[in-house]
Amino acid sequence: QHCILVGAPMDSGKTRKGCLMGPDAYRTAGLGDALRNLGHTVEDRGNVAPAPFLPKDHPKLVALEETIAWTESLANAAEAAIGDGLPIFLGGDHALSLGTVLGAMRHAETVNRPLFVLWLDAHTDFHTPLTTDSGNLHGTPLGYVTGRPDFDGFPEIAQPLPQENVAIMGLRSVDPAEREALQATAITHVDMREIDETGIARPLAAFLERVAAANGLLHVSLDVDFLDPAIAPAVGTTVPGGATVREGHLVMEMLHDSGLMTSLDLVELNPFLDERGRTASLMVDLAASALGRRVFDRPTRAY
Ligand code: ARG
Ligand code: MN
Ligand code: MN
Ligand code: MN
Repeated sequence: QHCILVGAPMDSGKTRKGCLMGPDAYRTAGLGDALRNLGHTVEDRGNVAPAPFLPKDHPKLVALEETIAWTESLANAAEAAIGDGLPIFLGGDHALSLGTVLGAMRHAETVNRPLFVLWLDAHTDFHTPLTTDSGNLHGTPLGYVTGRPDFDGFPEIAQPLPQENVAIMGLRSVDPAEREALQATAITHVDMREIDETGIARPLAAFLERVAAANGLLHVSLDVDFLDPAIAPAVGTTVPGGATVREGHLVMEMLHDSGLMTSLDLVELNPFLDERGRTASLMVDLAASALGRRVFDRPTRAY
């Protein structure tokens, strides 16, 4: 495949700084070579910059204008890249997905195929600018792309992502307002309890089957906090009880076997909080699994 690295050194989705170093940490950890060693071609398009913006003070929301500006530029970069290969967006905090998913939606409309989104995260990120308590817009991208209201100033969502096309896995920290809103939707939400009880392969295989049946495009958004903080400490929003190294790799290997993934976000890595690069290296290993690294070939099987 042709892999396209797109840096998104975005830090405006929350107050704690450091995610802007993420793209360089992934490059330093050897993401490009890992993909090349799997036989892929790799094109690094460098880092995207936000559109021009004028910051204003807001009683609650953090860096609203800057986040809107990133959404505009990243949507354009994403729409262009998805037509050219398999883009991997190197975050940056999760607010970058306001733009990358929007770009994927535009591309899907152009090629007339449905877009599906797999959100691997401890959190639902389903707030709107009105329901968020923290004011951190990295908690809003799934609200935005599914057409929730009150995203004033953001690019218009022409055709919202159908709720049926979204699955969130790894959940263990959901705000009351999000829980209530989410439960009224058709969004698939798999919490850590379900993963403990049935394993992650079962709900993931069910979702991938629906993507395949619809001939869909699949955007995958991997938040570092999907993983347990003991193995992935470099994130500002740690929640205990997350996915293990093995669960992470299983998800990525199943994604590769499915052949369905058409774009990938790596988000919320904060290298300032890392320990000798171990989180960046783990994220690179997971991306490599999603692009075909494996221990042994195995016959295709249904889970
Ligand atoms: N729900 C919390 C909030 O809205 C946490 C969001 C965390 N999101 C993330 N992308 N890490 O502030
Ligand atoms: Mn396109
Ligand atoms: Mn997130
Ligand atoms: Mn999260």
